[in-house]
Amino acid sequence: MKIKIGPSILAADFANLAQEARRAKEAGADFLHVDVMDGHFVPNITIGPAVVAALRKTTDLPIHSHLMIEAPEDYIAPFARSGSDIISFHIEALGKTRHARLKKAHLIIQELKKINVRPAVALNPSTPLADIKGLLEKVDWVLVMSVNPGFGGQEFITAVLPKISDLRRMFAGDIEVDGGINDKTARQAVRSGANLLAAGTYLFKAHNMEDAIRRLKNDE
Ligand code: DX5
Ligand code: ZN
Repeated sequence: MKIKIGPSILAADFANLAQEARRAKEAGADFLHVDVMDGHFVPNITIGPAVVAALRKTTDLPIHSHLMIEAPEDYIAPFARSGSDIISFHIEALGKTRHARLKKAHLIIQELKKINVRPAVALNPSTPLADIKGLLEKVDWVLVMSVNPGFGGQEFITAVLPKISDLRRMFAGDIEVDGGINDKTARQAVRSGANLLAAGTYLFKAHNMEDAIRRLKNDE
C-alpha cells in the first residue's frame, strides 16, 4: 500500500497556520491531521471548528479532524461544516457499555456518510480491537493511537504494534497510526500494516520537512 503522511498541525506555529499548511503541502504532505481536544476526554484544549474553517481557506489538502472530545456526536455538524474531509471520533468517548458505544458509533458514521465526510474510528493504545469489531464493515479508516492522546511530542508505545498487525489481518482499509512517529517508529508501524502516518513534532521541528516526509515514506 502507498504510504501517506498527515502532518499534525498541533506541532505547527499557531500564529502562522496558513504558512504552515503551505509548508506541509510543498513538503509533500498528503493530508493535514488536526487535533481537536476539549479538556475533558483529554487533559488539554486545542482548537475548534472556527480554526478548522480558517485552515480550510488556506489549503486544498484533505483535512482530517481528529476529535479527542466527549460527546463527539454533538459536534459532527460544526466540524463537517468547517470543511473537514475526514472526521475521526474515539470509541471510548461514546459511553460506558459496549452496546451504547456501538449504537452511537453507527449513528455518527451514518450521519457523516450522509454529508459526504469520511468517517474514521479512533482507539486509544489500551483499547482492544474487540471494541471496534462490528464497525469495520462500516468504515474504511481506523486511527490507532500510539501515545495516550492529549499532547504532542510523546514517545511511541511499541506495545500497539501487534494490534496494528492484528487489525491489518482483518481490515483492508486505511490504518493511520498517530503519536511518536519518527523515521524509526514509522518503519515499525508500516511493517505492522499501517499505511497512513500522522506526525507532528518530527515534521514541524525538522530542518527540512520534505526530507523528513521522504524518510517517513522510506523512499529516500
Ligand atoms: C496526540 C495527538 C497527535 C499528536 C502527534 O494527542 O492526537 O496527533 O499531535 O504528535 P507527535 O507526532 O509529536 O507525537
Ligand atoms: Zn491526532
